[in-house]
Amino acid sequence: MIDRQPSAQRRPVRSFPAARSQLKTSTYIVPCFLFVELVIMAGTVLLAYYFEYTDTFPVHIQGFFCFDKAYSKPYPGPEDYSKAPPVLVYSLVTAIPTVTILIGEVTSFFVKTEGAQEKTIVTADCCYFNPLLRRIVRFLGVYSFGLFTTTIFANAGQVVTGNQTPHFLSACKPNYTALGCQSPLQYVTEQRACMGNPFLVMSARKSFPSKDAALSFYSAIYTVMYVTLIFRTKGTRLMKPTLCLVLLSLAVLVGVVRVTEHRNHWNDVVAGFVTGGAIAAFLVSCVINNFKPSKIEIPIPPPPLRPEPPIGLPLLTLPRVESPLEKLSIIQAPGLPYSEIT
Ligand SMILES: *[C@@H]1O[C@H](CO)[C@@H](O)[C@H](O)[C@H]1NC(C)=O
Repeated sequence: MIDRQPSAQRRPVRSFPAARSQLKTSTYIVPCFLFVELVIMAGTVLLAYYFEYTDTFPVHIQGFFCFDKAYSKPYPGPEDYSKAPPVLVYSLVTAIPTVTILIGEVTSFFVKTEGAQEKTIVTADCCYFNPLLRRIVRFLGVYSFGLFTTTIFANAGQVVTGNQTPHFLSACKPNYTALGCQSPLQYVTEQRACMGNPFLVMSARKSFPSKDAALSFYSAIYTVMYVTLIFRTKGTRLMKPTLCLVLLSLAVLVGVVRVTEHRNHWNDVVAGFVTGGAIAAFLVSCVINNFKPSKIEIPIPPPPLRPEPPIGLPLLTLPRVESPLEKLSIIQAPGLPYSEIT
């Protein structure tokens, strides 16, 4: 029942019926990575770019009520003069999770003895994928994919709804006499009602959901889930929640700044939080399985039919020695070959 290949002798393998240990030789992972994952990634980045820097997707033109107080807040100036300028927000959104994941992975790789159960992938005798590198690439790759997805979702929402910012009428500068506005109850549907700077008017039509709020909350939730699920060291009982609360407060602060500076309504910010948080929670729980090593579900084995050779028992307690050049043997359950991809 148990067939061990010669190379498997170095590594203790749990033995149970119908298990076969074999080399983790994966020739499909490189073409799969190149031609599927990278193409999807490139498409996501391209779509985010088109939303962000071109007018490929024209914004929906909404009308407005004359003298509407909700949209008549003073123009707060360009985004760069905000208290949470895009440069700062985007740098933090990129840097904090990257640094946290790098620190966490390197720490758990060198500290844990049995933690990093990731397999070294052997591809066609030429390339060896270090498990540490695999995990870092996977978590950061999924993170950046989610970042671009959040950008796309937020931009798509803004373009489709065309909801205006609180300072819309200040940027629009409608000529109320020419539009014949008499009372605040009058609704203006005129497409060319705005006399202000067309670029400012265009960006004042993109408000729902708030992209800054979505990105910062996405980043915060992803990092918080990483910290809570990975850091299992004792003595971090207060450090973990402190770090998580700081990150969440920073994300909420970005939303609050957006509202107080009249750049977004509060419901835009809440919608942004929901978008970013939902994408982060989905990616963490469904795509990268809560940052756990991709283990194959192994049923509890029944008692072995024949006694284990006594020499195999002390091997089970040996700590793992991780070497990128070591060809590892794994337990691979039949029928689940795809749980190792990425
Ligand atoms: C507004 O429209 C009226 C009537 O068309 C025109 O007389 C006036 O000069 C316009 N005001 C501005 C600021 O363009």
